[in-house]
Amino acid sequence: MDRSDFGEDFIWGVSTAAYQIEGAHNLYGKGESIWDQFVNKKGKILNEDKGNISCDFYNRFEGDLALMRAMNIPNFRFSISWSRIFPDGIGRPNQMGVDFYNRLIDQCLELNIQPWITLYHWDLPSALENLGGWTNRDIVFWFGQYVSFCISTFGDRVKNWMVLNEPMVFTGAGYFLGVHAPGKKGLSNFLAATHHAALCQAEGGRIIKSLRNDLSVGTTFSCSYIQPSSNKERDILAAKRVDTLLNRTFIEPLLGLGYPSQDLKALRRIENYMKADDENKLKFDMDFIGIQNYTQEIVSHSYFTPFLKAKIIKADERKVEKTAMNWEVYPESIYQMLKKFSLYDGVKKLIVTENGAAFNDEVINGEVHDIQRKEYLQKYIAEVLRAKQEGINVQGYFVWSFTDNFEWAEGFLPRFGLVHINYKNQKRIIKDSGKWYKSFLKTY
Ligand code: NOJ
Repeated sequence: MDRSDFGEDFIWGVSTAAYQIEGAHNLYGKGESIWDQFVNKKGKILNEDKGNISCDFYNRFEGDLALMRAMNIPNFRFSISWSRIFPDGIGRPNQMGVDFYNRLIDQCLELNIQPWITLYHWDLPSALENLGGWTNRDIVFWFGQYVSFCISTFGDRVKNWMVLNEPMVFTGAGYFLGVHAPGKKGLSNFLAATHHAALCQAEGGRIIKSLRNDLSVGTTFSCSYIQPSSNKERDILAAKRVDTLLNRTFIEPLLGLGYPSQDLKALRRIENYMKADDENKLKFDMDFIGIQNYTQEIVSHSYFTPFLKAKIIKADERKVEKTAMNWEVYPESIYQMLKKFSLYDGVKKLIVTENGAAFNDEVINGEVHDIQRKEYLQKYIAEVLRAKQEGINVQGYFVWSFTDNFEWAEGFLPRFGLVHINYKNQKRIIKDSGKWYKSFLKTY
């Protein structure tokens, strides 16, 4: 397999997110976000790690972009920190924050790296969380103001935009389980947040297109290939419920199909948050759908999980090859997800906006021989090629992630980067996987 198998126009890149790499969390006029707040709560983050400094990308982006260029990487996906632009969520913009993203974008273009921007990658301004955050329907207005500002300010140079990053994860982990910021729990919080995020996903798209019809607009979804643990009917039905929740909740209303509550009863209560004409407001015709896949999940029936009545059997209980996240290495999952999403009418184009793996890397004589990550990437990319060769319209692939970074509740322990970061002295080392990606991208 080499790059030319994918054709000249296939988009190759790397992905990151603001809170995970930038640092400078309370500097240069930035306001507090829910992650700045959440990392200070006891027992929420492994080793009490915080993204306060992280990779210090805010101060080191020029060096990092030079490294990206040297690795032949032509596309860079990053997110804008909402509270860096609007410290209070709404109102007066922070010029230093705006200047930072202007410099970042200009430097990308200077190096012939195309910027791909995610508008929301989980770091809601705390000022808005104080008003209820995603559970408050006013977020559709707040988010709209922020999106309009970003498009009017950066849309002259940035062609590719993603509205939300993995809404199922930030609503599920942040508003149902309470394991991500802002740490809220319960079905009511979750359903309210879900509906408002689904409205924002469509509204964001509409705003972008109304301001600049020439831009390409997408949004991203977490997705996992779901299989039942046996062919007993109750396990098959449990797997269907998990698939409905994880893989269908956000895409189906976007496509005008409504929420898939016929296959997951707990979703029916989302109607409590719906107003007249919301079915239409949830719809938007995206130019592309971002697929973010890492693994498959094996599901069995369980009476102990409320609402879902299903249990995910983790990789270590199944004695399969796994990453440091305890996620099974299962390359075919990405093929299955591309196929599943391509089958929806109305999905025009797919781009893999994230895929990658965390392994326990070791620095030996200034090198990182991360053979498992290199093989993981090769196998998953081969499955993307398989999908493409079968006629599925997949047009791009982004590795998660460019450098090691702050992995949310897991802190700095899991390392996902093509480039190793020494958090004590900020030294960067290109891992063997990064060297492989570099040579793969060169083969054109
Ligand atoms: C999904 C998220 O978008 C990203 O923030 C996270 O670090 C990776 N997956 C790995 O878990």
